[in-house]
Amino acid sequence: ARLVVLVSGSGSNLQALLDACADPAYGAQVVAVGADRAGILGLDIAESAGLPTFVARVADFTDRAAWDKHLADTVGGHEPDLIIGAGFLKLVGPAFLASFGGRYINTHNALLPAFPGIHGPRDALAYGVKITGATLHFVDEGIDTGQIIAQVAVPVLDSDTEETLTERIKEAERAQLVDYVGRLARYGWTISGRKVVLGV
Ligand code: GRF
Repeated sequence: ARLVVLVSGSGSNLQALLDACADPAYGAQVVAVGADRAGILGLDIAESAGLPTFVARVADFTDRAAWDKHLADTVGGHEPDLIIGAGFLKLVGPAFLASFGGRYINTHNALLPAFPGIHGPRDALAYGVKITGATLHFVDEGIDTGQIIAQVAVPVLDSDTEETLTERIKEAERAQLVDYVGRLARYGWTISGRKVVLGV
């Protein structure tokens, strides 16, 4: 399967996918990496791996719809089977979803539907939950509302700061992402209502 990975940050999830893709039995290859901003580590990782990269900044377009269309066209040019939001902090719009709805997946650092949005670990700590985690899900027009593919639980410790909790979640999140992207790539899936059924 051909993967396009979208990033906004440090790219540790991207790195984990690249490591997994080094094994041909994994069943997927990253064919391009896109970002919504320049100068991030995620792009450096992609370039070091010799991958094509692209940057689509909302500010460079007349409006959000034009950005969305450009992103969809650019991603589409790489003919992906799956698009992976790996710390990608922009919400895509109707044009992107018309092209890639049902094959755009995102990893989120909380147990959805709890704590959607960009501060999953901070919000979990502030609420005082004892267990949080990471969710791999399809992307729809909402904020972290698409069908859930997989979830992994992570304990919240009394001693946690936002930083320590974020790191503990990221470790579990990377393993889950690598595991399930491989399964999706190798075995396919069907979606029926809210339910995602992995092929065997
Ligand atoms: C992940 O924890 C993701 O859930 C959150 O940002 C992190 C991305 O990290 N939105 P990285 O860029 O893959 O290192």
